[in-house]
Amino acid sequence: MKNVISVAPMVDKTDRHFRNFVRMINKDVQLYTEMITAQAIINGDLEYLLGFEDIQHPIVLQIAATNPEEAFEAVKRAEDYNYDEINLNVGCPSDRVSGNMMGAYLMAFPELVGDIVTAIKKATKKPISIKHRIGIDGEKVLPDSFERTIIDKYEDMLNFVNVTEKAGVNKFIVHSRIAILAGLDPKQNREIPPLRHEEVYRLKKEKPNLHIEINGGIKTIEQIDEHLKHVDSVMLGREIYDNPMILTKFGKYYGNDINISRKEIIEKIIEYSKKLEEKGIRPHLFLMHTQGLFHGVRGSKFWKREINHPKANSETLIKLMENIEND
Ligand SMILES: Cc1cc2nc3c(=O)[nH]c(=O)nc-3n(C[C@H](O)[C@H](O)[C@H](O)COP(=O)(O)O)c2cc1C
Repeated sequence: MKNVISVAPMVDKTDRHFRNFVRMINKDVQLYTEMITAQAIINGDLEYLLGFEDIQHPIVLQIAATNPEEAFEAVKRAEDYNYDEINLNVGCPSDRVSGNMMGAYLMAFPELVGDIVTAIKKATKKPISIKHRIGIDGEKVLPDSFERTIIDKYEDMLNFVNVTEKAGVNKFIVHSRIAILAGLDPKQNREIPPLRHEEVYRLKKEKPNLHIEINGGIKTIEQIDEHLKHVDSVMLGREIYDNPMILTKFGKYYGNDINISRKEIIEKIIEYSKKLEEKGIRPHLFLMHTQGLFHGVRGSKFWKREINHPKANSETLIKLMENIEND
């Protein structure tokens, strides 16, 4: 399947239930797991962390790792789960993550990232991609031995890409802003550093053999069309979560038409909720991810209130259906 649009990895959002919700609307977009640390995979419940339904293909496993050994172990364990691609997180600014020398912090250590990639390659034959930032401001976080703690020039990103390409990566997903490792929380780090899309275009121009995917602040079909003139693919996170009906507009990128109404989607939501109930799983864990279904149209507040009720279930939804117009 051609990779044109991806649903960004998002902790606490792109879990197995949300991904199944995406598939109720769109069968083509590339899905990502939430970021899972290598340590969690090594020590955790594999089925809980890594299990997914077949319909979720194409799906990418995103890991965060701090050294080659643990990356190897984690990816080896994930082999049984048949992910389509393994992605290494070099973009997460959280101090919990960079304090443990993972995520965006690793942009200061391209050779180490190269070694991690080499280790992953020993564990799997799957393609390996990296999701990273334009650069980092590592003041107060990077060791004093660093000549510069602000590594935010285009040339720094190019060097990072060149070094990790040598280790065998040919796909890079760039969140088009720097990460400021001290002083901003992850949410601020997705909003305050300015977007630098032009530098991602330049990367594609100078490295035409690589697959370059652009990410950060993309919300509309017009913006997607513009980006696709410059890069290979586009990744959207918050817009898809907040406004999942945008998934119906992506058919044109895959040569099909998506004609599904909210009412038809709710019918699928009801079926899915029933299955969860049969397994003794609270449907709320799934329903909360559908809260954007009426984004920007009448009924949005009502839908959010109903499905966010901790006791919401298939019965609630069947009653709700009576009040929903087919649009
Ligand atoms: C709630 C939340 C959780 C996120 N978790 C991850 C993550 O696990 N891994 C990752 O690479 N990026 C993570 N991100 C960043 C997104 O993948 C994406 O790069 C960022 O939101 C910018 O894209 P957008 O403007 O389309 O949302 C997260 C973003 C949000 C909003």
